[in-house]
Amino acid sequence: MVLDALIKIKNEIDPTLTFRRSCREGICGSCSMNIGGNNTLACINRIDPSLTKPVKVYPLPHMYIIKDLVPDLTNLYEQYCSIEPWLKRTDETESEEYYQSIDDRKKLDGLYECILCFCCSTSCPAYWWHPEKYLGPAVLLQAYRWLSDSRDQFKKERLKKLGDPFSVMSCHTIMNCTKTCPKGLNPGKAIAEIKKMLVV
Ligand code: SF4
Ligand code: SF4
Ligand code: FES
Repeated sequence: MVLDALIKIKNEIDPTLTFRRSCREGICGSCSMNIGGNNTLACINRIDPSLTKPVKVYPLPHMYIIKDLVPDLTNLYEQYCSIEPWLKRTDETESEEYYQSIDDRKKLDGLYECILCFCCSTSCPAYWWHPEKYLGPAVLLQAYRWLSDSRDQFKKERLKKLGDPFSVMSCHTIMNCTKTCPKGLNPGKAIAEIKKMLVV
């Protein structure tokens, strides 16, 4: 995998080379970077054995860079925090479980698997254009995950916070996000579903 090559370079050639990684199996989302022109995870991106040309590796595009392959994710995490990514109830209790039917649970499939690697947000032209106003596909997929959860009781309030002209509506359905997601998720569709909720 490309991550193994990076580790080899760091161990044997240049110990100053800096990149994020943790799980090395596509679960933690740390090793996202641009490899051969695509945003993806270095740990699950194979090096083609018949490779004749060098592979170019860059940090995630259109981000402030802290060092080498490490982008500054501060804005993305602040935006993630802004959607309140946790279950919200009016009858909060510590002693009871909140039940969910099998069908309602199924509505979270394709959403809960997101590993917050931000390959999608950093491949999105709308997000490149105004990351200070548009929440971008990763955060909006998460917003939709909580809007879709039958146990959450704050759907109206959540939608109200997303209802300004930029947070969601800056998406122009270019679908770079869905094309690049290394987990095979569809943030473009999640955004379209939020837009539908906002207009009804
Ligand atoms: S579909 Fe929307 S979020 Fe996805 S890349 Fe296009 S503009 Fe960005
Ligand atoms: S939707 Fe896919 S590309 Fe975007 S943050 Fe989640 S796992 Fe990464
Ligand atoms: S090291 Fe965890 S996703 Fe690559």
